[in-house]
Amino acid sequence: MMTSACYTDSIAIVYNLLSPFSNRMILSALKTSSRPFPYITIRLISLQSTAHNMSSYTTAVSAPTIPTADTKISLGGKIDVPPLALGCWSWGDQSIWGWTPDADADAKSAFDTSIDHGITFFDTAEVYGKGESERAIARYRNARSDDEKGKLIIASKFASWPTKLWYPSSLLNALNDSLKRLEMRQLDLYQIHGPVHFTRSIETIGTLDLSAGYCLFVVCQTVLHLTPPDCSLADALADAVDAGLTRTVGVSNYSLAEVKRMHAALQKRGIQLASNQIEYSLLRRLPETSGVIKGCHELGVSVLAYSPLAMGRLTGKYSAANPPPKGRHFSNYDMTQIEPLLQAMRGIAESRGKSVSAVALNWVICKGAIPLAGAKNAKQAEQNSQAVGWRLTEEEIVELEKHSMEGSNSWYWQHA
Ligand SMILES: NC(=O)c1ccc[n+]([C@@H]2O[C@H](COP(=O)([O-])OP(=O)(O)OC[C@H]3O[C@@H](n4cnc5c(N)ncnc54)[C@H](OP(=O)(O)O)[C@@H]3O)[C@@H](O)[C@H]2O)c1
Repeated sequence: MMTSACYTDSIAIVYNLLSPFSNRMILSALKTSSRPFPYITIRLISLQSTAHNMSSYTTAVSAPTIPTADTKISLGGKIDVPPLALGCWSWGDQSIWGWTPDADADAKSAFDTSIDHGITFFDTAEVYGKGESERAIARYRNARSDDEKGKLIIASKFASWPTKLWYPSSLLNALNDSLKRLEMRQLDLYQIHGPVHFTRSIETIGTLDLSAGYCLFVVCQTVLHLTPPDCSLADALADAVDAGLTRTVGVSNYSLAEVKRMHAALQKRGIQLASNQIEYSLLRRLPETSGVIKGCHELGVSVLAYSPLAMGRLTGKYSAANPPPKGRHFSNYDMTQIEPLLQAMRGIAESRGKSVSAVALNWVICKGAIPLAGAKNAKQAEQNSQAVGWRLTEEEIVELEKHSMEGSNSWYWQHA
């Protein structure tokens, strides 16, 4: 491991010497930037990976277990989480979710109500509300005692745009910024937000990438004055764990092939890939039919299901006469198309005495994923927390799936 890291560093140094730009760029950035680059040398001082627990553990709730808030799923064999999480994208986001400061009290009550029901796992990202989602979590979390804070599991994400090339410092500085906004010293889970980085960056130093991506990189480097990465994305994630900035690491929107590559690259550093966060709901079953969920589990990777309520469409609140606001782009079906599914969901919700949203979320849990359900207020959080404490029967699952949708991938964002 040490040898390969030295090799990696040597290649970066050789590249730097050959490059007409990079050495000068690094030096001038260090001299002129108002922003410190605290992690540039981190790999020189902390390449000794710690021992990571690679023994077997539970990645999902499997039949016939009835999921409750106390049922524990292990992320990467290191963190226990409940089978349901709260997604915090809408907190602070104006463009899609219409956030205003007046919504703060309701969002805090969603946070508090979730915790009251044992839902202690929260998902955010540096891009949600340009950091406002992380700041909101800090406000709500800080109102809790130290003991309560210690029980909360916070996940965030690195906006992995191809322009953020300089690994590990771009990733580690972004993680450091997230921690500052969250007012925390260590994250529980840090995820690559999407496979929008150069694909070979997963395990290769970008400077060796002789593909079309590399050509684009050279153009970007020249135009944007960027410096080359000195390690792969997997190494940057491993550095984040070794530096104690996050307990586990994950990816999002990765195809199974990409998950396998990241998993293998992290294993070389003694680290287990904890999770793959993908869109999964009754309106998007592709991760199931394509084998991504099964393949992730075989590698010990938990699946976190985003937009499990199809951005509100599976709550029973919206209809053809009352469609959701524009801009909710995931599983953006016309409401008339999904009316048969909603009818079936309403029938099961009534017979079970649960909310419609709880039926949608329980289905996700039964299928082996952890739903990240967004909630804007206490009522929504309470209804969503009804997803645990019971289990759909096989007959109910078949009935729902008769009216479900498969969905599709996108070349840019959704590879799974
Ligand atoms: N990695 C990625 O690329 C990615 C992408 C998307 C999301 N995510 C994550 O996944 C999380 C959840 O996804 P999401 O926010 O897109 O959508 P979602 O969970 O499918 O839907 C959440 C929205 O549905 C409505 N809602 C929720 N519970 C309700 C209830 N009980 N009754 C009525 N309405 C209810 C609320 O909006 P209204 O009240 O306004 O209708 C809420 O904001 C996000 O917060 C984020 O953490 C990740």
